[in-house]
Amino acid sequence: MGSDDNGRARNEKVSPMANDLRKIDREKEAAARASLKFVKDGQVVGLGTGSTAAFFIKLLAEQVKNGMRIRGIPTSVKSGELAASLGIPLTTLDECQEIAVTVDGADEVDPQLRLIKGGGGAMLREKIVASATKQLVIVADASKQVPVLGKFPLPVEVIRFAQALIKKRIEALGANVSVRAGADGQPFVTDENHHILDCRFGEIRDADRLAQELNAMPGVVEHGLFIGMASVALFARGNEIVELRR
Ligand code: 5RP
Repeated sequence: MGSDDNGRARNEKVSPMANDLRKIDREKEAAARASLKFVKDGQVVGLGTGSTAAFFIKLLAEQVKNGMRIRGIPTSVKSGELAASLGIPLTTLDECQEIAVTVDGADEVDPQLRLIKGGGGAMLREKIVASATKQLVIVADASKQVPVLGKFPLPVEVIRFAQALIKKRIEALGANVSVRAGADGQPFVTDENHHILDCRFGEIRDADRLAQELNAMPGVVEHGLFIGMASVALFARGNEIVELRR
């Protein structure tokens, strides 16, 4: 029996779920590829976190191999390791406080380019890098484009000392709150050594107000609502790239 390019036997059946996953990965890669036009020679580039951002980092590394001179500021230890392993020169916020363009993923994007981020647990560094960035480009598969934020649980990074108190306060705002667990079943620990509360609000009708309420809670280090930060979102829908601008 012969095999196709991916080593699968030609007659082997692929489950509908595996097919969906491959389609989503193709869309993630296509969105990441479309973002390359925003990166110019000589720039400092913020490197996002997550599977879509990882596609971007790999594609950017190819550009670097072909002679593009950029320096990257990663938004997580994981993205930094990936970029370094592929030969992308890195810098830090200590050395450089102005980032021309950052390419990052998102868990949800609404029509005003408000985002929920933090599915990968990196939203603290992601938001810091975004805040120092001129042009934040969001790359995502089509499933991330939503009319109203909130189906995806909102991640809130907290100081461990205050975790139980903040959980109660967020529950009082109407959310169902759980402490994120890692693969070992223990609480997930962020790059900055905090825990994450995943907060299920359902539809978030007033994201601006919720962001303010969370910002005002002592012990909340950061939350995954990114408001007024993204300049462009690129969604891949099959073979088409949809570009939204603020
Ligand atoms: C990490 C993030 C990611 O960008 C977000 O979770 C999207 O991830 P993916 O591209 O894997 O779907 O915010 O903190």
